[in-house]
Amino acid sequence: MNTILIILAAGKGTRMNSELPKVLHPIAGEPMLVHAMAAGTLLEPERTVIVAGHGADAVTAAAIDYDETVIVVVQDEQLGTAHAVAQAKNALAGFTGIAIVLYGDTPFVSSDTLKRMLRAAERADVVVLGFEAADAGRYGRLIMEGASLERIVEYTDASEAERMITLCNSGVIACKSDLLFDLIDTVGNDNAASEYYLTDIIALARARGLSATAVTCDEAETLGINSRAQLAQAEAAFQLRARATLMEDGVTLQAPDTVFLARDTVIGRDTLIEPNVFFGPGVTVESGARIRAFSHLEGCHVSRGAVVGPYARLRPGTELEENTRVGNFVEIKNAVVAEGAKINHLSYVGDAFVGARANIGAGTITCNYDGVMKHHTHIGARAFIGSNTMLVAPVHIGDGAMTGSGSVITSDVEPDALALARAPQVEKPGMARKLIEMLKAKKARTQRGS
Ligand code: UD1
Ligand code: CA
Repeated sequence: MNTILIILAAGKGTRMNSELPKVLHPIAGEPMLVHAMAAGTLLEPERTVIVAGHGADAVTAAAIDYDETVIVVVQDEQLGTAHAVAQAKNALAGFTGIAIVLYGDTPFVSSDTLKRMLRAAERADVVVLGFEAADAGRYGRLIMEGASLERIVEYTDASEAERMITLCNSGVIACKSDLLFDLIDTVGNDNAASEYYLTDIIALARARGLSATAVTCDEAETLGINSRAQLAQAEAAFQLRARATLMEDGVTLQAPDTVFLARDTVIGRDTLIEPNVFFGPGVTVESGARIRAFSHLEGCHVSRGAVVGPYARLRPGTELEENTRVGNFVEIKNAVVAEGAKINHLSYVGDAFVGARANIGAGTITCNYDGVMKHHTHIGARAFIGSNTMLVAPVHIGDGAMTGSGSVITSDVEPDALALARAPQVEKPGMARKLIEMLKAKKARTQRGS
């Protein structure tokens, strides 16, 4: 059966005390909404609808940025979770299947858990994701009779006895889409909060003789974020899991607690990560590479056998081919560094191609920006760029060419040529000594005079 995804993300998140809508606060480099979307994407849904409200424009932009096929609908007034789901109805006209309702502020529900819910939804009419809460607090409580879920009671509406129940509602629901909207149509708002509760569909379904059940997962998956403190806890929980997974996958982290990973970081087996390395979104490191201490990587690809850092910065669009070397205080952006090339010290390489086995001397800079536009620098294979060369782009250095150190290269250099672009050296014999004597005599005169 088809899957349909509905993600609720209209809430303001008052307790975040922020201009930014809650679901856009980042965890591991990406909005928490994207984490929820990513788990859902693995179910290959026919259609994904996001219900936005507060900050809808920003939420839409972030959602489309992750997946341009999603539909965003706006819930103008937040009248409750059932009302929120109802907003998705028109966007789903013509689509039927099992609808899964997720929350944008509950980023860690795994796709395995969602798949278990889909399987359960083949047998039961309504499936709710529950969890045993260490501290049940204000969560909705699941009222079970054996394997049958009878109803969900919200904390505010619960009796003392019901509040003792520790099996709680995560909020995630799976139900055939036409039945879901049908049940929602009959939800009222006669409760303590005067809200339209999605949770009411359970009792309504049971009253019609339909079946409902709960699938459970670990509480860590249902962690919801309402405050900055919970955001920090979520980040810490994510990092702990991501580091553990990498180590299980054969990556060495010398000091795991000091390595920060993004949601989508991919690192191959037998790569070694030294302490204090930061991975932003979009990084792939192949097997057997070494990322040395204090390096910062985002949006880049590092191939086998490459050594990066210490203190290197790889920015988006960096492609390091096999066995390349990028050393300390080197920044690379939007550039391909071909096999075996070395950029070992104090350089900026942007909008460039560095040919195989080229050697880039210390202090080399590709001057890629003229104040208005960016320009490309090509450095041929086996080229030797002397220390402190300024390569004023657009410029093309041929294969096997050399530049003298301190050169400002403004025109193309032929293959195998040596380009020198600096003032020639002049030498004045004895001049240094004369100059010092002159200065000393001057100092003596002024001291006598004062
Ligand atoms: C909800 C559940 C509760 C469950 C808890 C888990 C209901 C009635 N209660 O309570 O049983 O234990 O989640 O965290 O469903 N939202 C909208 N539009 C609205 C209302 C909510 O988009 O009109 C979104 C919120 O942005 C949030 C999610 O739905 O992402 C949950 O809403 P929230 O108000 O936090 O529900 P809870 O009271 O926590
Ligand atoms: Ca909540």
